[in-house]
Amino acid sequence: MEELSELLDGNQKWAAEITRDKPDFFEKLSKLQTPEYLWIGCSDSRVPANEITGTLPGAIFVHRNIANVVQLTDYNMLSVVFYAVKHLKVKHIIVCGHYGCGGVLAAMSKKSFGFIDGWLSNIKNVQRLHQDQLDALATDELRSDRLVELNVMEGVRALSEISFIQEEWQNGKFPKIHGLVYSLKNGHLHDLGVTADCPDCVAPALRYELDK
Ligand code: CO
Repeated sequence: MEELSELLDGNQKWAAEITRDKPDFFEKLSKLQTPEYLWIGCSDSRVPANEITGTLPGAIFVHRNIANVVQLTDYNMLSVVFYAVKHLKVKHIIVCGHYGCGGVLAAMSKKSFGFIDGWLSNIKNVQRLHQDQLDALATDELRSDRLVELNVMEGVRALSEISFIQEEWQNGKFPKIHGLVYSLKNGHLHDLGVTADCPDCVAPALRYELDK
């Protein structure tokens, strides 16, 4: 276990610190989770949901994949979203991208990354949809930063297309879907202001007629 000693020692220290500040924290949390947020973010090791939002375990239900792709045939992602929305009743869904995302940069390059190409094609398609806007930007960095933002916006749009989310909106104003981008360079989160929280937020072709 020597290979993992850094992690295991860190864990002991972390658990002791939390218990010192909040003696009943783990005992209480072990009985129930009531997170208000679902986070769909990138797998990148530099963008951990709890740490960058200053929250503790129990605050955020999390799904992460390469380049925070929201793809409606991804049953892993859909199962997480379904459980979060229908059972945990989260109030907010956050799609969070980050500038300098390796997945987005890989998708923008003309290189093949083998098995991952199929996954990256989701981002290539966002690029294709907004090619004119991207081509108008002056540098590769501006183009990749913008594609990071567009990929998040596309994720927010795709989530609002899900029938069981539209069903929830018939009963109230939750879940609200938000798009954020994180900067690796300064640790700040930036709200893209692309909230979706009602059927009217969805293009007519993507709206379901659901029974009340
Ligand atoms: Co990334």
